[in-house]
Amino acid sequence: MKIEKIMVIGSGQMGSGIAQVLAEAGYTVYVNDIKEEFVEKGIAKIHAWLDKAVARGRRTQEVADQVRNNLIPSTDYQDAKDAQLVIEAATENRDIKLQIFKQLAEITSEGTILATNTSSLSITEIAAATSRPEKVIGMHFFNPVPVMKLVEINRGIQTDDATAEAIKELSEKIGKTSIDIKDSPGFAVNRILIPMINEAIFALGEGVATAEEIDEAMKLGANHPMGPLALADYIGLDTCLAIMLVLYNGFNDSKYRPAPLLKKYVEAGWLGKKTNRGFYSY
Ligand code: CAA
Repeated sequence: MKIEKIMVIGSGQMGSGIAQVLAEAGYTVYVNDIKEEFVEKGIAKIHAWLDKAVARGRRTQEVADQVRNNLIPSTDYQDAKDAQLVIEAATENRDIKLQIFKQLAEITSEGTILATNTSSLSITEIAAATSRPEKVIGMHFFNPVPVMKLVEINRGIQTDDATAEAIKELSEKIGKTSIDIKDSPGFAVNRILIPMINEAIFALGEGVATAEEIDEAMKLGANHPMGPLALADYIGLDTCLAIMLVLYNGFNDSKYRPAPLLKKYVEAGWLGKKTNRGFYSY
């Protein structure tokens, strides 16, 4: 089945980035969220980026207009009826995702692929909540989506080869490199990246160095583009904590215990860039 129309569920940081790269590659994209204002905000972010790209001569006005035309606002899953693919990038909450997938499987046609951008939850469990688990797959993007080259293709135990192949092909068409990953807590990147961030938070909590010094150390000593604490703020401290808990519970291994300071910041509502306060102030 040729993929032409795609619904992206969730128009936050990840969802709008995913919608942007798909629309730029020529796909018709339903940008879906629970409220119109959320959808408008997600689309406005893409429009602002397109305006900047035109002003800098990186895109022609025609191309930018075409990308805008490819974006269709939606607050109704029924719009996915004629889509060949749905990519869910909603809140990282198990119960919400299970509910969304159950509904999507009922609304969409038999062959529609149902992908989730989950950063750590079990694809196998999400697939099992639907009536056609073989069409469910993980398609995990990285933030900022238009810049980061990787897509982790996470197969549930039930995912069929045709579904994985279609997602691999799509990833190539939108200029990403995909890697096949076994369904396992945190997949590959977050299993390695988030414990590193967690360790940086332990170091900060123990007074090893200041946030600025820890970040500078990792930038200069390990050539990371961004220090781990700045990256934690960028990802969202609630997301970092949620991923640590998935690793901790998924592996039943204490080496994944979240840093107490990470928990405290999340309790305080200091979630990073999105709340203007995390390890840094914005
Ligand atoms: N759309 C299109 N292009 C964008 C963009 C967007 N939304 N945001 C940034 N860019 C482009 C800029 O236009 C710029 O392009 P040019 O060089 O052609 O001008 C380029 O990206 C670099 O942007 P900036 O100059 O603004 O910033 P920078 O050079 O400081 O890089 C960064 C910023 C790309 C974020 C870099 O610091 C970086 O790579 N940081 C690490 C990010 C990372 O690790 N991400 C993974 C997080 S984990 C995750 O996402 C998974 C999860 O499940 C939690």
